[in-house]
Amino acid sequence: MQANNWLRHSVVYQIYPRSFKDTNGDGVGDLQGIINKLDYLNDGTRNSLGIDAIWISPFYPSPMADFGYDISDYCNVDPLFGDLAAFDRLVAEAHRRGIKVIIDYVPNHTSDQHPWFKESKSSRHNAKRVWYIWRDAKPDGSLPNNWGSVLGGPAWTWDERTGQYYLHQFLEGQPELNWRNPEVRKALLDVLHFWLKRGVDGFRMDVIAFLLKDPDLRDNPPNLAADPNLHPNDIYYRQLHRYEDLDEMSEVIREIRHVLDQYEARIGIGEVWYELDRWVRYFGVNNDGLHMPFNFKLMQRPWSASSIRETVESLEEALPQFGWPNYVLGNHDYARLASRIGPAQARLAAMLLLTLRGTPTLYYGDELGMENGNIPADKVQDPQGILLGAERTRDVARTPMQWDASPHAGFSDVEPWLPISADYQIRNVVEQSNDPTSTLNLYRKLLWFRRQTPALHIGSTRWLLESNEDCFCYIRSHARKEFLVALNLSDIAQRIVLDSLKRGNIVISSHLDRDGEIDTPELSLRPNEGLLIELTY
Ligand code: NOJ
Ligand code: CA
Repeated sequence: MQANNWLRHSVVYQIYPRSFKDTNGDGVGDLQGIINKLDYLNDGTRNSLGIDAIWISPFYPSPMADFGYDISDYCNVDPLFGDLAAFDRLVAEAHRRGIKVIIDYVPNHTSDQHPWFKESKSSRHNAKRVWYIWRDAKPDGSLPNNWGSVLGGPAWTWDERTGQYYLHQFLEGQPELNWRNPEVRKALLDVLHFWLKRGVDGFRMDVIAFLLKDPDLRDNPPNLAADPNLHPNDIYYRQLHRYEDLDEMSEVIREIRHVLDQYEARIGIGEVWYELDRWVRYFGVNNDGLHMPFNFKLMQRPWSASSIRETVESLEEALPQFGWPNYVLGNHDYARLASRIGPAQARLAAMLLLTLRGTPTLYYGDELGMENGNIPADKVQDPQGILLGAERTRDVARTPMQWDASPHAGFSDVEPWLPISADYQIRNVVEQSNDPTSTLNLYRKLLWFRRQTPALHIGSTRWLLESNEDCFCYIRSHARKEFLVALNLSDIAQRIVLDSLKRGNIVISSHLDRDGEIDTPELSLRPNEGLLIELTY
């Protein structure tokens, strides 16, 4: 077994550190807050959630123009979140509980306040000028090419003093590094060494496919299928991105992997959004790439039985023989799961995510069924919401974690940086711990059952084609144990006849209100119900 196989048997939990737990009364979550809540995540008992690894979004020194994805020092902790000693304590405390620690790696761009960029900007002749991507204006003074920033506006900003444009496919405050320069590569690989030596177990690599740019920086073609109602600032989604995700990226990924492999059992996860044929390339050939390019397909596609089946089957088919599936249902850039598919289906989604073959990644608060926060236009913080319109703000998925019914939801003693969701008095960890049918208890049950049941993580999968068009059903089996998962994707009751079902016991209903024996090939599923059934024949 490969030493890094732990990721295959793990459930990853994403923490957005600003919003998890504030311990020093400034309204922003911090590293000590994460330490204080590790027992909630996994204290070794079924009273805790039962996850295996945390991925922490950036906590590095930053002007916070993009809330930490604009880094001004890769090898330190922003005082807002704590210090390196707090980080070391966090790693030690997590490891003591058997929790792996994955941190964010943002190699595509720095902050414009990073000393490297300040030097680069200081003069055309500075040695670090070539560390970033500077270009002259076109003869008519216009931008070097037509690229747009993902977060809104053009991808180029003019520097008056040195008379050139610099490239940023995110904010103006996020200038892009030139990964074709060997010194840049070395500096960024050294960042990996720094944190690996501090004991981190892996990295989530931000917009990893962007690192290499088209050498000629050619114009993007228009996207003729783009929604005509896009915000005027939305140049990015009006174009096709033919020059992202270059084939040469595989060489960079190999170099990154080579660094990871110098340490024991460390893993690389990549933020990769492309279609499956391009996405699979990030595993490398002969297992020399990333351990896990994030798979966002279930988030992006319609939530229906046929679409989910197609998504899961096509993923399994596309995987290289050494690859491993994974599924993500939410993150800090996307609307909340419960708001996208509705609270009832969100419970079914938990059962799907935790019974499919593949590594699940959970987003903090989804285990409570947290919904999109209501962020008044004057409270919008996210630059995407400012540049592309309040309805595009990612703040909605970043509201503080709801721990209890006390003022500020037990997140902080003071008014938090983003408003707490209105439902916090009923939707919080304490309330849901006391309610045997809560979403939190559903997650706990599923997580702990999965942990003790090899069929649910390493077992093989058989799709049941006889399932009706509103239901998605499959069997997970391992070592003579078989489990049937039957999911009703509709909000009306369904009856299905499954040849494979003769006798079985309901282990978990997503409603958490029934168990017991089944002895017919016919199954009744209530609206939005999912069943996990141990087959006994
Ligand atoms: C992806 C991150 O998830 C997002 O939050 C950020 O704005 C961009 N990359 C830029 O770093
Ligand atoms: Ca704080």
